[in-house]
Amino acid sequence: MSDINLKANLSNEIINQQTTELATLDKELTDCLTRNHYQILSYICNGSTCSVYKIVDINQTMLAAKIIDHRRIVPKFREQLLPNELMITRMVSHSNIIQIENVLQIDNYSIIISELAIDGDLLRFIQQTEQPLIDKYRKWFTDTTQGVAYLHSKGIGHRDIKADNVLLCNGGIAKLADFGYAILTLDLRGRVQLCTTFCGTPEYAAPEVLRHIPYNVTVSDCFSLGTLLYLLVTRKLPFGCGKTIRTKEGAFQQYKRIMAKNWAVCGEIEKDPNLYSLIDQLLHPDVKYRISAEQVLLHPWIKQN
Ligand SMILES: Nc1ncnc2c1ncn2[C@@H]1O[C@H](COP(=O)(O)OP(=O)(O)O)[C@@H](O)[C@H]1O
Ligand SMILES: [Mg+2]
Repeated sequence: MSDINLKANLSNEIINQQTTELATLDKELTDCLTRNHYQILSYICNGSTCSVYKIVDINQTMLAAKIIDHRRIVPKFREQLLPNELMITRMVSHSNIIQIENVLQIDNYSIIISELAIDGDLLRFIQQTEQPLIDKYRKWFTDTTQGVAYLHSKGIGHRDIKADNVLLCNGGIAKLADFGYAILTLDLRGRVQLCTTFCGTPEYAAPEVLRHIPYNVTVSDCFSLGTLLYLLVTRKLPFGCGKTIRTKEGAFQQYKRIMAKNWAVCGEIEKDPNLYSLIDQLLHPDVKYRISAEQVLLHPWIKQN
């Protein structure tokens, strides 16, 4: 059992700290934004691969700019994952997925302009909130699952579902963001393609992903949804977190805990059998028994309000 006092990402491995000072931003970058009639207003935060800023467009609409400096990301990210992210963000449109407004590309930068999530990300919200706000969390978890079900219906797997990639927008709507690891899950004939590369965040990874065996991305996404739900209702990650699980031995121990269903039944989960049943089916170690995003939306815990 682990507390959530972490930003569960691999930031140091992928990117060095990027500047937060607007005055020191590269001229190439600011010129590009100005040419496209955007003005940077303020820094929001750094992600594992980017810096994110609040910007405004010519109509004074507030937006977010996710700025990826090509010189600061590892070649695998630059050559494979970034083109994938740019392609997939353009393919999706759903009320529970952050809407992309524009993508700008210049020599050293890719800039993804999207709607602004005014209330930030869900991890930050949970960290700042002591009490589990079950009805609110049920709503945000349902929103997120609707986004995931949409992606899966389009043959897209997300591969990095976690609280920091769920953003809170105007009107109290949760939307899934960050397609940095997203992938097409079907081949040209519509058959499921299994994936073999480890991607995403170990704390949220399904056992089959930790094992490095070919896995069905949509099924492993649902395990991450289970981790997210557990985190929302307990403020803890079900199977641990931190540096140790980023080692080979640590990942193996994590795998064993998942296979033994070694997550604590506590707090709200102890009180509500429907919640227990939903988490149990999402964190199921056996892919045959893990429920899909569509099935989650029909589950009694989602329906009870
Ligand atoms: N549209 C947005 N509105 C507000 N904050 C955002 C937006 N997009 C990203 N962020 C913030 O920036 C962080 C990093 O963005 P993300 O797309 O997840 O990048 P990374 O691939 O580096 O994780 C998010 O966790 C969130 O806190
Ligand atoms: Mg992210």
